[in-house]
Amino acid sequence: MSASAPALSDDLDPALRARLAALSEEGWDVWQRFDEEVRQHDWHPFVPADYEHVLQTLLKLRAPGLRFLEWGSATGVITIMADLLGFEAYGIELDAQLVDVARGLAERFDSRARFVAGSFVPAGYRWKSRTGDNRIGTIGYGQSGYPELRHPLEDFDVVFAYPWHGEEEMMLDLMRAYGGSGARLVLHGGAHGARVYRGGRLLG
Ligand SMILES: C[S@@+](CC[C@H](N)C(=O)[O-])C[C@H]1O[C@@H](n2cnc3c(N)ncnc32)[C@H](O)[C@@H]1O
Repeated sequence: MSASAPALSDDLDPALRARLAALSEEGWDVWQRFDEEVRQHDWHPFVPADYEHVLQTLLKLRAPGLRFLEWGSATGVITIMADLLGFEAYGIELDAQLVDVARGLAERFDSRARFVAGSFVPAGYRWKSRTGDNRIGTIGYGQSGYPELRHPLEDFDVVFAYPWHGEEEMMLDLMRAYGGSGARLVLHGGAHGARVYRGGRLLG
């Protein structure tokens, strides 16, 4: 998008736009408290994505009847955003306290977004990199969240994650192994804000 191009969200219904803005604002407040109370004392893998950037990406991807999953949904802002935009939206987060925060936020925003505590890594998956370095960065271990979601990974049309540096390859491999054939994987971050993949290929 060029600097002068209007944002896609300019076309949104004003009431929805206001709701999304309030969600983002509250998300940043929750993050600030989390940063002060948790991250400044102990390292934690949660850092939030740029919500406005994510909104622009989701607006390009949304279409009726799509199912959305956020890997590592933290405080739930992005999953709730997806729900408000019309996706059937789910989040999986390893930290159960963050899942409680996300559920509270969903309630306040009258959102049907669903959250489960667990791992986005399906049971039985093992990451084997081409280089032999099989470290999985900040991705934690835990019981797979899919059984509680009642949807395997292949049921999702759009999967979103904000990987730490070096975690992208494993996420792409996981999607190739377990994702639906037409599903898109959105990886937030880097110079372009978000990269969208389908079948392991970069779309944009
Ligand atoms: C970089 S943060 C991104 C948070 C949120 N998706 C966003 O973009 O604002 C990564 C999140 O993934 C969570 N996480 C790490 N390993 C996980 C796993 N195996 N399953 C589910 N969540 C995980 C962390 O606790 C953290 O909240």
